Order: sequence, then structure tokens, then C-alpha cells
Amino acid sequence: MRVWRRVGGKLVESSNEISARQTIFERPIVLVGMMGAGKSTVGRRLAGRLGCLFLDADRVLEERMGVSIATMFDLEGEAVFRERESALLAELVNSDASVLATGGGVVLRDANRALLHDRAWVVYLRANAVDLWIRTRRDTSRPLLRGSDARARVSELLTLRAPLYEAVSHCTVDTGRQPVERVVDQILEQLQSR
Ligand code: S3P
Repeated sequence: MRVWRRVGGKLVESSNEISARQTIFERPIVLVGMMGAGKSTVGRRLAGRLGCLFLDADRVLEERMGVSIATMFDLEGEAVFRERESALLAELVNSDASVLATGGGVVLRDANRALLHDRAWVVYLRANAVDLWIRTRRDTSRPLLRGSDARARVSELLTLRAPLYEAVSHCTVDTGRQPVERVVDQILEQLQSR
């Protein structure tokens, strides 16, 4: 018998997506990866497909502080931002949000990685340095990519962080130039097969 249910405004046959929703939701799904990997776009779409709440940690922090991330870096420096980011992460992992997008540097702290690995399903959205640079090069909102050497900076950050993303995540999906819908399909497939 075919069973149809409405998920995120879309009619889907009761199959993988429904079971993903039931099994995965014991923990939040947290997206990690470099700036420009597509964490916010993919996270919003994934949450839409699953019919659950999506939060973007950087946007939550900006709303609370009343200023942009770039302004926070300018006024307080990166170290204070990292403190705020860790405190917020601990809060959001225990919130109602079932899909969370994190800032690209969230994996730098051991405590953040331990918390995420233990309490969430962590998905690394992986892309190569060239694609990441192409996606971020016109964006002036990211303080770590300001300046003329942004391409080299993306490459340096990726080299430094790739092992941390790999270590914290339960699965990895290549975002490359794939359509968002395909990335979401792969996340669901990988999480279900765990
Ligand atoms: C950062 C990534 C940004 C933001 C801040 C620092 C990083 O988030 O948290 O500018 O260290 O990679 P996105 O990954 O959403 O751009």
C-alpha cells in the first residue's frame, strides 16, 4: 500500500524520509564546514524537508547582540567571539532546533567538537578550496576573508580545519557544485544508513 504524508509542505511517499525523521530526531543534525560550504542553505532545505525547526547559530548570535559578526570581530576581537560561539552552541544543541548550521570555526575548540560529536549527528559539508573561494569572494561579511589574499586564506584555513571537520563528523557530504536538493538527499541517506 502506498502511504502519502505531508512533510515540509511537500507530499512524499511514506518511505525513507519519514523513517529518517523518526530515527534521526533523537539528536539534532548539526552542519559543519568551511565558510561558503552552504551550511545555511542546505540546513534550511533539510529542515524544510523534515518539517522541523532550523537555526543558524551565527544569525542567532547577531540577533542577540544586535550587530553583525563582522562588527563583533571589530569591537571585541576573535577570542571573545569564540567564547560567545561556544556558549551559544551548548545552548542550541539542547534547544528545540533539529537542524543547526554552525560557523566555520566552531570546530577549532576541543570542547565544541566533543559536545557536538556526543550530542548531535554531525554532517561535514565538504568542498574544495577553489569552490569555497569562488562562493565567498564577493562577500564582505566574513571578517576572516577580508583583504586581497582571501584565496590563499581559504586554502590555509581549509588545510588547518579539514582534519577537525573529519574528526567531529559522523558523515561527510561533498557539496561541490551539486544542487542543494541532491546534497539533502545524500545527508538523509547517510544518516539513515548509520
Ligand atoms: C567563521 C565563519 C563564519 C563566522 C565567522 C567566523 C570561521 O560563519 O562564524 O565569520 O571562522 O570560519 P560561516 O561559516 O557561516 O561563514
